[in-house]
Amino acid sequence: MKRTFLFLLSVSLFSTGFAQKKYNPTWESIDSRPIPTWFTDAKFGIFIHWGLYAVPAWGPVGKEWPVYSKYAEWYWYRMQSDSSKVGNAFRAFHAKTYGPNFRYQDFANSFKAELFNPDQWADLFAASGAKYVVLTSKHHEGFTLWPSKESWNWNAVDVGPHRDLAGDLTRAVKKKGLHMGFYYSLYEWYNPLYHTNVGRYVDEHMLPQLKDLVTRYSPDVVWPDGEWEHPSSTWKSTDFLAWLYNESPVRETVVVNDRWGKETRSKHGGYYTTEYDLIGDVNSKEIKMAHPWEECRGIGGSFGYNRAETLQEYESSASLVHLLIERVAKGGNLLLDIGPAADGTIPVIMQQRLLDMGRWLQANGEAIYGTQAWSKVPQAKKEATQFFTQKGQDLYVLCTTFPTAPIVVENVGKPSRVSLLGSKAVVQSTAGNGGVTIIPPDLKPGETGEYAWVFKLEGVH
Ligand code: GLC
Repeated sequence: MKRTFLFLLSVSLFSTGFAQKKYNPTWESIDSRPIPTWFTDAKFGIFIHWGLYAVPAWGPVGKEWPVYSKYAEWYWYRMQSDSSKVGNAFRAFHAKTYGPNFRYQDFANSFKAELFNPDQWADLFAASGAKYVVLTSKHHEGFTLWPSKESWNWNAVDVGPHRDLAGDLTRAVKKKGLHMGFYYSLYEWYNPLYHTNVGRYVDEHMLPQLKDLVTRYSPDVVWPDGEWEHPSSTWKSTDFLAWLYNESPVRETVVVNDRWGKETRSKHGGYYTTEYDLIGDVNSKEIKMAHPWEECRGIGGSFGYNRAETLQEYESSASLVHLLIERVAKGGNLLLDIGPAADGTIPVIMQQRLLDMGRWLQANGEAIYGTQAWSKVPQAKKEATQFFTQKGQDLYVLCTTFPTAPIVVENVGKPSRVSLLGSKAVVQSTAGNGGVTIIPPDLKPGETGEYAWVFKLEGVH
């Protein structure tokens, strides 16, 4: 009785924000923090890789190149430190285009962002149906998109655009009512302090930068990366997270990922991450994830803009919608990346893909946002074209091809109503034997939507 009372008291104090739980700098304590629901409800975010690599904007293209080798944002490392065939490809392009003696650092002069219009970007993101945005505040090259005093003369205000790109975008994105977040690379390829004294690098460079980002811009997502060379104890990750969760201005709302040290992916931190369906080198499709997770990938084969990619390399709008559906039906989010150009424009093909997704979400978003993976989902077949999400008492059946034959859904009661989202067509159905059969309406071209079709079964749970 007394325990119940104390429990209820602490629950109500917690929810009124009075007695916020205090987190200790241990994984056990940090991992006990629930992931704010805005994130698991949001489902769809936009990732942005933007830095000096947007100037050469080049990477190898084609099926013969493995996933990671195609990343244009790895340009500096590939040309300077990679002796493999991948490095050779980057070096050959560099020598041919800029000459072998042209230094990566000199790309800063051509990174001008002269057409960067943050409000236009934010309008596009909002129209895409995304609910959050994650910008590379600093990638492995160490160049910061905000005026970091630790990155003296190696940031977007001191050189290049002469503008606080991170701050300007943050204001525009928040004004649109979207959540703003930052990617931040823990390691830096060529920072001498990192290589000579990682302890000092963490104390004097990395942690001050992370705290500066958080206190200046109040991001709702902190998305570390480049964690793999050291354990989280070297990065002092739990110290930072205890500060973030106990004291920072975003302690109530902030969400983080799992890239905090070489031992932490899919184990510690906030939500788990996959990247082109990989976790490191493991194919994540074989892993069932009950914990909140997020898949990130580009529309083509790179995060940073790669000018060498042709239309063939870009996913179609239909396959991007399918990608979102598949991830959400498995309880995940999709963080879809775009790579803006060095002049601050977003390649038009990327704009078009995002707007198409937004149009689909406009009609069908209720089957995505705020849903959960269906608890009774049937064993997925390899070439599955039907996916399921649930919200409250309703079940959504998301079809990635327009069904021409009746759809049988097992393990559901009789629905009070069946409808096709975005359509006024009457949908017939029959119920019995613990299942429902949906008869797809006979629609003519022009009466159907595009990309994917969603049946809503009301009141089945
Ligand atoms: C990686 C890469 C990278 C990209 C990223 C996104 O680990 O190094 O270039 O930023 O993760 O998930």
